[in-house]
Amino acid sequence: MRKWRFAAGLLFVLLGILLFSGCGRQTAAPDKVYVGVACYNESDVFIGELIDCLKEELNGLSGDGMETMVTIRDAAGSQRTQNDQVKALIDEGSNVLCINLVDRADPSEIIDLARENDVPVIFFNREPVAEDMMQWEKLYYVGAKAKQSGVMQGELAAELIHSDRRVDRNRDGKIQYVVLEGEPGHQDSIIRTENAVDTLKNNGIELEKLSYGIANWNRAQAQNRMMQMIGQHSNEIELVLANNDDMALGAIDAYAKLNITESAFPVFFGIDGTDAGLRAVMDGKLAGTVYNDKEGQAAAMARLAVSLVSGSVPEDLEFENGRYIYLPYYKVTIANAEEFLDKAGK
Ligand code: BGC
Ligand code: CA
Repeated sequence: MRKWRFAAGLLFVLLGILLFSGCGRQTAAPDKVYVGVACYNESDVFIGELIDCLKEELNGLSGDGMETMVTIRDAAGSQRTQNDQVKALIDEGSNVLCINLVDRADPSEIIDLARENDVPVIFFNREPVAEDMMQWEKLYYVGAKAKQSGVMQGELAAELIHSDRRVDRNRDGKIQYVVLEGEPGHQDSIIRTENAVDTLKNNGIELEKLSYGIANWNRAQAQNRMMQMIGQHSNEIELVLANNDDMALGAIDAYAKLNITESAFPVFFGIDGTDAGLRAVMDGKLAGTVYNDKEGQAAAMARLAVSLVSGSVPEDLEFENGRYIYLPYYKVTIANAEEFLDKAGK
């Protein structure tokens, strides 16, 4: 009996020592979350809006004994510049990184730097290949699934074509279309195009592809490409599928610049639901878009960043394969565009 009492007492003392010693301190949340954000090009409209959301989300998590600080670096399209910026962000004290790679196939230097300094990385929007994500266990990804956005764009277009016979301008039973594509090599470009086209076909739409142009997500480049395509096919084009809103808006710019009357315009579809994209949907210029949930992505990144520093991952963050978070897309037409603009607080 006395032996038992002695053992129990000893256990108690040991527990006490554990609790009040280093072990206890290690699990306490550090109160400073220094987030280093590196983006591929802040002049990209969607990325600019996503970064604004991220700043807001992180600021919102400050308080309650927690301090969040954000430093943002813009690589303006150069991977080498981004590697230097990441090094500087770490040297300046970032304890978690959010990285929007310039070249999604070339993250090794950044991963090495992060691992050497034990700074966890959340990649976003430009998804590294799976092999690179396996290089270290503190690598995460937050984004959305390209396939879903392509399918939704195809469904929106199919719904319109079925309900409005005027889309088939020459009444030949087929839809003559062109595609404006984002950067080659970006996970969202080819997959969005393929799935939008397949979905149209699966919905019984007969298609005829007239042409395509690569416009690297960019409105001005899309305007140029579209002007060339209008030059080749003049009034034959009935549908423009753009991999993002900015390129869809660039296509509309081309028609306006050429002084083509609106009644002779094809129908345009984008993806993103940027502020300008949503306004164009509300004005009836863009037939539809697919909402790329920047608020949801920013919120997931901010919470994950804080938890990676404090060491406790919130239970309601849903991971795929342990380290990926994908936010869903939503279909947007003139019927609901305003709700999304409100969501963005505009
Ligand atoms: C967006 C584009 C953006 C690109 C940048 C895509 O997910 O839809 O608008 O330019 O990401 O990486
Ligand atoms: Ca036709």
